[in-house]
Amino acid sequence: MCGIVGYIGDKNCTPILLNGLKKLEYRGYDSAGIAIYNTHGLKVVKCKGRLSCLEDRINEEKPYGCLGIGHTRWATHGEPNDVNSHPHISKSGNIAVVHNGIIENYLKLKEFLILQGYEFVSDTDTEVIAHLVEYHYKGDLVQAVINTISELEGSYALGVISRDSNEEFVAARKDSPLIVGLGDGENFIASDIPAILEYTRDVYILEDREIAVLRKDGVKVFNHFGTEVKKEVFHVNWDVSAAEKSGYEHFMIKEIFEEPKVVRDTINPRIKDNSIVLDDIHISPQDLENIDKIFIVACGTAYHAGIVGKYIIEKLAGIPVEVDLASEFRYRDPIINDRNLVIIISQSGETIDTLFALREAKSKGAKVLSIVNVVGSSIARESDNVLYTWAGPEIAVASTKAYNTQLAALYLIALDFAAKKGTIDAQALDRHIQSLRALPEAIEKVLSNRENIQKFAAGHYNARSIFYIGRGLDYALSMEGSLKLKEISYIHSEAYAGGELKHGTIALIEDGTLVVCSMTQDSLFEKTVSNVKEVKARGAVVMAITQEKNKRIDDIVDMVITIPDVDPFVAPIVAITAMQLFAYYMAVQKGCDVDKPRNLAKSVTVE
Ligand code: M6R
Repeated sequence: MCGIVGYIGDKNCTPILLNGLKKLEYRGYDSAGIAIYNTHGLKVVKCKGRLSCLEDRINEEKPYGCLGIGHTRWATHGEPNDVNSHPHISKSGNIAVVHNGIIENYLKLKEFLILQGYEFVSDTDTEVIAHLVEYHYKGDLVQAVINTISELEGSYALGVISRDSNEEFVAARKDSPLIVGLGDGENFIASDIPAILEYTRDVYILEDREIAVLRKDGVKVFNHFGTEVKKEVFHVNWDVSAAEKSGYEHFMIKEIFEEPKVVRDTINPRIKDNSIVLDDIHISPQDLENIDKIFIVACGTAYHAGIVGKYIIEKLAGIPVEVDLASEFRYRDPIINDRNLVIIISQSGETIDTLFALREAKSKGAKVLSIVNVVGSSIARESDNVLYTWAGPEIAVASTKAYNTQLAALYLIALDFAAKKGTIDAQALDRHIQSLRALPEAIEKVLSNRENIQKFAAGHYNARSIFYIGRGLDYALSMEGSLKLKEISYIHSEAYAGGELKHGTIALIEDGTLVVCSMTQDSLFEKTVSNVKEVKARGAVVMAITQEKNKRIDDIVDMVITIPDVDPFVAPIVAITAMQLFAYYMAVQKGCDVDKPRNLAKSVTVE
């Protein structure tokens, strides 16, 4: 989704804005631009395409100034072209605006502004904001922004500068992320921390409807009534290298290699004296007695983690679990009440579908426990309880390490609930804890055996369609493996429950069709072998992923990728690493832009 940066200080802001936009590239974009205050007015440089195109234009035009805003646009209203790129300028050229989000009532506002004599040059919703700020501007930019946002419906993160002042600029947000970076004699805004981390580690995380006024020597934050609010400084405790490739060819492979560490970081601090201690969540045995149903709500990869969550929570804690796509949940009028717990899963903590689902659940009286990676994100702030996945910044659009940690968090929750409800005995709890502790080492082994996966990918990257099959937890795992492949390699792929194939999909299997089969569940192993035989009999080429102890199936499949002999119950956390590597190597072989796949955005802040 769109990325925003802004700067005020004593330095030339052009390289700072460009640098910040580069750090936000991962969010996904199709055009970019900057607006800079200088003695001649507001200088805007913007164009369709990658940041390198913007850089070329900047090198020609050499804009200079100590106050500016920048933007990467992920098109929603109007095709990606130079005119629709941000920043947008008001009629007189006095106001420049960058925006992330969607203004739902922009047509109504546009009609009103046209009646006032404003002319529109773009197809965007954002242009109404530039004209509206100008319409309200009577010499006070802050008041003009306050009046403007009181008329906006929808979501926004905004950066606004005016030709009348190089001493301040204004930022505001609602339902789209925005932070303020606090420097020494300089201050910043950005959609995400990596954009400003080179300059400062101290930030304000803006809340919905807050307005920040940035000067080079200080920042004031107001609520939408114009009353100043006291903000707490959030100190970022990870360093720049966490958001850099550090010698790896892509962020995605770097992040896959971080999995042993982040799974350890997520699990170990929460195991004390051989029991699960979730200090950060406050759900007592009594609270659990009152919960008769759990909903897990999320999108994409996080949704797939939720499906694993259903299996394990039902099995361990005996509470019925329903898993919903956040974008469906909100509009299907779900039957929820105060005896329900809603578990929200989100890496970014900013996914708008998921955030709105959270609000829907709360409005109906349910308690919300979220599993979130980004500290201080909107979902974390609005939840009753948060269990952080300590995955660190995830930059590649394709989620990898966050998924492993989401699963780890779900296992911890399932075991905690089971212990509190008395549905697990001490011996079984101990066995599960030992399985969790063994995970980082098992993932390391998968990483060190990656060559086989790489070789297999080298021989099959031209596949037109790949099916993923599995039963039980392996089916849940297959869904995520299949998503990973399609989003970065653009190869069509579907995941099917092994037993469901014969009810239709098997018609698509023909000579040479590639099938990836997860076989990590002992109790379903033989049944899955039958499914493998069914597809083999119709000409499929099968790659199986299974524990070392099952290696013998190499006589019925074409390739066996082994993972260590982990307990089947936790196998998805290890087997997914093999699937992520497979998707990665397929995409690399095809020459795809692995970290920034086409049409996708990292943090999806529009519905
Ligand atoms: O930040 P979130 O976990 O809420 O994001 C949810 C999905 O948008 C995300 O998982 C998406 O599916 C990824 N591209 C998957 O790799």
